[in-house]
Amino acid sequence: MNGKKLLYIETFGCQMNDRDSEIMRQLLAKAYEPTDVIGAADAIIVNTCSIRDKAEQKAYSLLGALRKRKRDKPDLIIAATGCVAQQEGARMLSRMPHVDLVVGPQNIYQLPELFDKARQFRQGIVATEMARSFHIPPFLPSLQQGNPHKRFVTIMQGCNNFCTYCIVPYTRGREISRKPEDILAEITHLAAGGVKEVTLLGQNVNSYGNDHPVGSRTSFASLLRRVTEIKGLERVRFTTSNPKDLSEELMQCFTDLAKLCPHFHLPVQSGSNAILQRMNRKYTIEHYLDRVAKLRGCCPEIALTTDIIVGFPDETEQDFQATMALIEKVRYHSAFSFKYSNRPPAKSCQFADSVGREEKERRLAVLQALQQQITLERNREYLGRRLELMVEGESRAAEGQWSGRSVTNHIVNFESQVALVPGQLVQAVIREACLHSLRGELSM
Ligand code: 5AD
Ligand code: SF4
Repeated sequence: MNGKKLLYIETFGCQMNDRDSEIMRQLLAKAYEPTDVIGAADAIIVNTCSIRDKAEQKAYSLLGALRKRKRDKPDLIIAATGCVAQQEGARMLSRMPHVDLVVGPQNIYQLPELFDKARQFRQGIVATEMARSFHIPPFLPSLQQGNPHKRFVTIMQGCNNFCTYCIVPYTRGREISRKPEDILAEITHLAAGGVKEVTLLGQNVNSYGNDHPVGSRTSFASLLRRVTEIKGLERVRFTTSNPKDLSEELMQCFTDLAKLCPHFHLPVQSGSNAILQRMNRKYTIEHYLDRVAKLRGCCPEIALTTDIIVGFPDETEQDFQATMALIEKVRYHSAFSFKYSNRPPAKSCQFADSVGREEKERRLAVLQALQQQITLERNREYLGRRLELMVEGESRAAEGQWSGRSVTNHIVNFESQVALVPGQLVQAVIREACLHSLRGELSM
């Protein structure tokens, strides 16, 4: 025993939250070591997401279930972090009095002091202040904890776009970009420690640097160029982009930068211009399709994925059919699709949520059936092709069964009697295409 207590973290939501969970683990590492067993934990962090109704309900139901654990183990520290915590603040404490700490995304850096206070005073503490001038502190990730071969790197926080359905500007605040030097130092440190792949994270990476003084700005495309020059890195990815300001300079990177993976997540949300306008997306479908064509011109093998909302207020059957037509036109490699839900204080809550639950479900099912068929057809396009894979790991279920990821972000399962190392690059010829994965044969 090293005298350390045990910390359990449950993470909901986006990759930004995954990265924040890593940071919290590291910040608390002096006093706590991680555990996967919630029942053994001396402290539990629930890192919440409020993007959709369902995500928020999940976080609340886990937090609710912790009431009994706290009764049985009064010393247990329970913290709610992330977007629901930010949004609810003190309200969360009145609803969940067994919670000790409510901490917003900008406040996680104070976690060690907050934990000390929580242990000392044993009364609910709320830390959800958001500052306009907040800067994500330079922070070198731990090489001992976390995935050894691939990592997320947050390059900016917040969002200025105010899409009418979206809660993010309220929970994560306005856009704040990290300094390029801090980002490059973080990635250099990771690469020197053996990390082979990084994913740069931001709500809208295209506007990276726009909040820095004119004259000393680095665009996202130039940041990407500098990241791909870091020694030891094999692959670079990023997410997410708003199609309205997807620049020519960024598209050109897909032609020029060998380490930039040819996968682009380009959320469209709807195929109807009327709905896009009410969503305040600030682009038309014509503009979107033009970007898609240009991207494919820059990089013919690029895999496109997207996000779609069905049942936005006043979405007619015709609007929905326009979304279906768009899917057929673009033929995405895959898509995340959601039923619209009100997320107060997002502006769309002022519109009547006019599409009924059953109709939303019907539209979602029809859309997902079409997308699944296209995903399968897309996956079959890889049959017989030789792909470079970055090894993810061995299957827990069966010895000798491994999985890897292609540059286009496809999971490929294969057999290898030789032990491999996560992060290693291998070649495989694709022999089978399923909906969620491909199957390949190692080829030297
Ligand atoms: N209702 C349904 N889906 C939503 N998304 C964001 N807000 C809502 C909402 N209120 C979806 C969008 C976004 C993805 C992360 O979640 O498609 O791109
Ligand atoms: Fe969820 Fe959005 Fe917050 Fe990520 S930023 S945790 S997706 S609400």
